[in-house]
Amino acid sequence: MFPVIIPAAGYGTRSLPASKAIPKEMLTIFDKPTIQYVVEEVVRSGLDQVIFVTSRGKSAIEDHFDVSAELEAVLERSKKFDLLEMVRGLSKMVSVQSVRQKEMLGLGHAVLMAKHLVSTTHFGCALGDDLIEAPVASLKQLIDFAQKRKLMEQDAGVVLLMNVTQSDVGKYGICELDPQTGVVTRCVEKPKAGETSSRLAIVGRYFLPRSIFDLLEGQRKGALGEIQLTDGLNALAQKGKLYGHVLEGQRFDAGDRLGFLEATLFYALRSPLKDGVRKLMKEMQ
Ligand code: G1P
Repeated sequence: MFPVIIPAAGYGTRSLPASKAIPKEMLTIFDKPTIQYVVEEVVRSGLDQVIFVTSRGKSAIEDHFDVSAELEAVLERSKKFDLLEMVRGLSKMVSVQSVRQKEMLGLGHAVLMAKHLVSTTHFGCALGDDLIEAPVASLKQLIDFAQKRKLMEQDAGVVLLMNVTQSDVGKYGICELDPQTGVVTRCVEKPKAGETSSRLAIVGRYFLPRSIFDLLEGQRKGALGEIQLTDGLNALAQKGKLYGHVLEGQRFDAGDRLGFLEATLFYALRSPLKDGVRKLMKEMQ
């Protein structure tokens, strides 16, 4: 079974002040912390091992998926069995390992921190800011792609892509793709105007060969002065070992205020409270 690295060490500056004392991954989208949506997607993809890359002040993330004996005892005593089941379910959802990123040197560096915990040929990686709703869970889409194209045998990987507008190209890692083969020919992190004509952005889901770690170790600081995962992916692409799969589904950018609100409304409108939410929204217009 492939583990999934979930980088969660960043300061969350885009979410300040909400993320000053609370990890941004624990901010609530409707009724659950953001990171729970990502972990649930891991489970829906048929996987059950996550590796959190965390930093100081982020222990709430591990606690959320750990056993809380005291809380369970209180819920049991007060006969709140539905809540008890929910709380127990969280601690059984996945097996959790975590590792600290002591210096914030970039996403590529964060992923590299988990190298010693990955013993399989391939691993998944999911970024917490990207929430995805799709008929088939997005990591599963990548694994299915990898199995169909026999990427496991070729030491190759696949990244999830989506089309973005020209004005948004500079916010993402952008891939140039051969549409016939699905092979990625080049990746650029946060390209400047004119640097690429592609509008295919990397969404935060990856299924990568273990050899990416060696490529990341060789990376110098890239965009924003950070060790970028995208630069490691580009090195993989130069060996002809990176593929792109265009997302079949919807993606929310939980790191952006409007994206966060959009996701909140999306899940609220799919919850048992939906009629009340619709009524509130009408009244506010
Ligand atoms: C990160 C990656 C970028 C990717 C994006 C997706 O950027 O570096 O390649 O396109 O996530 O959300 P960040 O959002 O951390 O700036």
